Amino acid sequence: MRLFKKATAVAMASVMALSLAACGGGAKETTAAATQAATEAASEAATEAAEAATEAAEAAGGDVSSKKIGVSIYKFDDNFMTLYRTELERYLTEELGFAKENVVIQDGKGDQAEQTNQIQNFITQKYDVLILNLVQASSAPEITDMCKEAGIPVVYINREPDAAEEERWASESIQATYVGCDARQSGTFQGEEILETANKGDINGDGKVSYIMIQGDPENVDAQYRTEFSVKALTDAGVEVEELLMQRGDWDQAKAQQIAQDALNQYGDKIEVIFCNNDAMALGALQSIEAAGRKVNEDIYLVGVDALTEAVQNVIDGKQTGTVFNDHFAQAKSAADMAVKFLNGEAVDPVNMVDYTKVTGDNAQQILDQLK
Ligand code: GAL
Repeated sequence: MRLFKKATAVAMASVMALSLAACGGGAKETTAAATQAATEAASEAATEAAEAATEAAEAAGGDVSSKKIGVSIYKFDDNFMTLYRTELERYLTEELGFAKENVVIQDGKGDQAEQTNQIQNFITQKYDVLILNLVQASSAPEITDMCKEAGIPVVYINREPDAAEEERWASESIQATYVGCDARQSGTFQGEEILETANKGDINGDGKVSYIMIQGDPENVDAQYRTEFSVKALTDAGVEVEELLMQRGDWDQAKAQQIAQDALNQYGDKIEVIFCNNDAMALGALQSIEAAGRKVNEDIYLVGVDALTEAVQNVIDGKQTGTVFNDHFAQAKSAADMAVKFLNGEAVDPVNMVDYTKVTGDNAQQILDQLK
């Protein structure tokens, strides 16, 4: 992202130079100044790019181009994990110097048995390090043992194994680690977004906030914590709540659309808030909200998590109350950096957390600019 910002500065300075030049023959000096600004920005960018490459190479212990890294994603058909996977591949190859053919990314297709097989194949083919987004976090002990026996370090991402498993890595000096975010924080941010509205979520003024909760896959700690902590933020602030419905939408837009549609039919104006454990589901809920003739931020509130581009745009347009940025750039970077640390034989903490960022009308444009 640092490079991206610098590139933007270069582009802006160049545009400045061009538009000043276009202003007419008399503007020679200003044009020269703008050209100089563009040149300086460009050389600063080049220096920074070189520094970043050196830093990355140093972190990688010199050369990782012959190292094989196996990645398995719980399923490719997931909006957020697609952004994550794309950034992970970019960072590994373009910034850390892994050879493209040595970065193999597989689709777990939502099937743990299939994913376990893929991991087994990585092991048989003697991959040097693995980055794994498990279908079922509860499979971590078994997978960790397989990797440990083969002497292959493993970085788990996105779906957090339980605390006992993470403690075991530390106590038994197993080369395994987790990179993710603390989902309690994202839930709390969602609740705060409702508290920050004019009527603290109580649109009809009956003294309580009536909501429906559309959950991700409930086996996943992200879904559990977001569900619990979004509501907890309200009750901790002394706000009374009423849960009209809680249903699993498995992180999926179409499922959430159906759930919201049925709930709006059943509960109508009683629903003041729709909490969605992620943005894909918030996009689905919005389709049903609009179809029911309801208006977000006027007669209903809607919050999600992830900061998908479309959802952030909806926050700007007043069609979603808020979201929470699930920073896939920082998570991908951290996961890849941990993999390299393992390759270098360095010690790695068992748990590595990245912060979430609250996204409301106040900063949505800024976040959108970062995402592009
Ligand atoms: C969550 C994310 C969801 C989904 C899930 C997959 O962190 O918010 O959109 O991608 O991970 O495990």
